[in-house]
Amino acid sequence: VRAVASSAELAAATTAARKAGRLVGFHPTMGALHAGHRANLAHARREVGLLVASIFVNPLQFGPREDLATYPRDLDADLGICAAEGVDLVFVPSEREMWPRPPGVRLCVGDLAQRLEGVYRPGHFDGVATVVAKLFNLVGPCRAYFGEKDAQQLAVVRRMVADLGFPQVIVACPTVREPDGLALSSRNAYLSAGQRRAAPVLHRALEAGLTAWRDGERDPAAVERVAVKLVETEPAVELQYLALVEPDGFTPPATAEAGQVLAVAASLGAVRLIDNLVLR
Ligand code: PAF
Repeated sequence: VRAVASSAELAAATTAARKAGRLVGFHPTMGALHAGHRANLAHARREVGLLVASIFVNPLQFGPREDLATYPRDLDADLGICAAEGVDLVFVPSEREMWPRPPGVRLCVGDLAQRLEGVYRPGHFDGVATVVAKLFNLVGPCRAYFGEKDAQQLAVVRRMVADLGFPQVIVACPTVREPDGLALSSRNAYLSAGQRRAAPVLHRALEAGLTAWRDGERDPAAVERVAVKLVETEPAVELQYLALVEPDGFTPPATAEAGQVLAVAASLGAVRLIDNLVLR
């Protein structure tokens, strides 16, 4: 696998591929690649000619009290995974390459970024949108792959592309789970053994809410209550939010309908986990 650190090289490679008639696929990541990323890359590999991944821990999307300094980094392992998944090109910019100075122009996401995650991570989605916009401009027209686990991020990126006329086609990749239901996340590595045993309650809670809806419950608050009650059985898990929301705007619905997202965030000690299920 070819790794490049320069924006110019990245842009040249994707431009040449498009000129040669190859479809470009792009999976932006922050590294610490796990089986979830692997599934996304494998999905992309089947669909495109030139497959590009990026690895960049973007400081703009971390709050001052978040885990930027300790975010897991293992470039050799990540490049090995990219090679195994058939990635053609990995963009690995330094912080100086991406942000030689703090960007004086940034994207500002509206109401969508103020809800759920936005309440706990002010400025997070502005940082995500700003870096994704820059990466999209460097890669150019492509199919761009994002995990459904970060459902609100996916909604923000879709909204950005629609509102600002980006040429990228956004492809959502299903969440990959451990056998006990825990959604794969780079942050799972921080869980103690006890926290790891407790963490799958989040997925069980979402499943309980989904089951209530499938059994006919249409009151959003009642669906949420079923799920919250389950989370509360696990003292190691401190619930931050558990909410049923519309998939585009993340607003609360009047009635529980197919396509809506049941989303949860919780902290287990210093580790913050999120997960979601779509009503279907
Ligand atoms: O989902 C992530 O890993 C990041 O938020 C992204 C999309 C790579 C932007 O830094």
